[in-house]
Amino acid sequence: MADLTDRIALISGGARGIGGAISEAMCAAGAKVVISDLLQEGENKASELTDKGYDASFILHDVTIEAEWNKTVSYCSETYGGLDILVNNAGIYFPKTIEETSLEEWKQMFSVNVEGVFLGTKAAIPEIKKRSMERESSGSIINLSSVAGLVGSPNHGAYSATKGAVRLFTKSTALECAALEYNIRVNSIHPGVIDTKMGSQVVNTIMEETGSGDNEARAQVSELHPLGRFGKPEEIAQTAVFLASDDSSFITGTEFIVDGGLTAK
Ligand SMILES: NC(=O)c1ccc[n+]([C@@H]2O[C@H](COP(=O)([O-])OP(=O)(O)OC[C@H]3O[C@@H](n4cnc5c(N)ncnc54)[C@H](O)[C@@H]3O)[C@@H](O)[C@H]2O)c1
Repeated sequence: MADLTDRIALISGGARGIGGAISEAMCAAGAKVVISDLLQEGENKASELTDKGYDASFILHDVTIEAEWNKTVSYCSETYGGLDILVNNAGIYFPKTIEETSLEEWKQMFSVNVEGVFLGTKAAIPEIKKRSMERESSGSIINLSSVAGLVGSPNHGAYSATKGAVRLFTKSTALECAALEYNIRVNSIHPGVIDTKMGSQVVNTIMEETGSGDNEARAQVSELHPLGRFGKPEEIAQTAVFLASDDSSFITGTEFIVDGGLTAK
């Protein structure tokens, strides 16, 4: 099993869903985990993890605000002595046609899904490289993109554009960190539909569009995946743990598709 003993990890949007599962999986692999989120319920997630004997804490944090990133990264170094792993997980989703999408909505999507990733990466690199340049084990930045960052789909113009941006920002960051010899690896994860609040939004959209009931809509979403089901947050979390650990020491600038075969069709 991948080992993250003594690593310090910051997970944005870690209060619930995929970020919550990544927080728990990284704790279980031995990391000290800082959960950041604009939802106060991140506090409950951190308590749940400390009750299990793990080392986790919570900081209230909006990823769209640069000063809050600086505060959050400083919290990691003051509380735990540094930072080794950043997971840019916080994200928002809404399905709309291009004609229905207002400029405000477009900007909001970019503000969270793209600017949030840029600001996090910019704030974290100086702190991560302090430790990674002093040792063999690399630092790791993991960005949550989506299958929507690989292939297009109707009603997802804004979301796809943000996730495509995250995909290529990841590759450029990986190449830059390699060229500067920071010993930081940078990769993206591209989930299919995962059973979280955001996954439920996909189901609700199908219900609204087709008039079908919850079970029927869930069956339709399941069928999108050749494996015939939704993904579980824990399945994304295991990929993140692998990418954070020395088990992936020669992997950088790549995209990990975890989609039950959805994009293989
Ligand atoms: N669930 C899916 O089907 C799916 C598929 C592909 C990609 N993803 C991506 O995975 C990531 C996690 O998705 P999820 O399904 O867990 O979603 P979710 O809605 O369950 O959780 C997202 C978390 O991000 C937080 N967040 C949102 N805006 C924020 C902000 N401005 N600052 C700080 N935190 C903020 C929310 O409070 C929430 O805790 C997202 O980037 C999403 O786009 C999800």
